[in-house]
Amino acid sequence: MIETTPAEERPERPVSHSETWQSCLVMQGHINGYGRLFGGVLMSWIDQVAGIVARRHAGCEATTAAVDSLVFHAPALLNDIVVLRGRVTHVGQTSMEVRVDSFREEADGTRHLINRAYLVMVAIDSSGKSRSVPGLRLETEQERMEWETAARRDRLRRERRAEGY
Ligand SMILES: CC(C)(COP(=O)(O)OP(=O)(O)OC[C@H]1O[C@@H](n2cnc3c(N)ncnc32)[C@H](O)[C@@H]1OP(=O)(O)O)[C@@H](O)C(=O)NCCC(=O)NCCS
Repeated sequence: MIETTPAEERPERPVSHSETWQSCLVMQGHINGYGRLFGGVLMSWIDQVAGIVARRHAGCEATTAAVDSLVFHAPALLNDIVVLRGRVTHVGQTSMEVRVDSFREEADGTRHLINRAYLVMVAIDSSGKSRSVPGLRLETEQERMEWETAARRDRLRRERRAEGY
């Protein structure tokens, strides 16, 4: 049995409550044979940020259920600073969609997008069962637009799962 709470009884948290920034330095152990940041290392950083965002929003442990859109736009190189920004874009009953943007930061502070990923995180109780998450309070026009597009992705995911993909 999933522990669920009716929508009207669920507390709400704003997107800003769980927004998370993380900076990482690309070091020798992070690069591949071409001298570029290895994709798997970046994916690990993305998953960590999404996990922190989800825990902050849910107020409990969360696990990664799916990563269904992750695009590498540009490389990062040895000694680059990589900045990751994660935020909740949509919530269901127990799931949260977290968008993580990763940037390569230049010495003057200019940031270039190198990766965008959407992860579905699920709040879990101490026995690993999914549990209700707070609602998401949308405070800006951009957050409302993100919610709309995230809701479409959520519908598509559910359709694909129902079809057995
Ligand atoms: C994620 C997990 C807890 C979901 O458990 P479950 O019994 O399938 O739970 P439910 O069917 O009740 O689904 C719970 C929520 O997850 C969502 N969900 C489950 N599987 C999903 C998937 N493959 N893609 C997208 N969302 C998914 C459901 O839509 C539901 O969302 P909602 O409550 O907002 O409507 C379970 O599959 C699990 O533990 N997976 C392994 C996670 C893990 O170990 N991650 C680390 C990677 S090493």
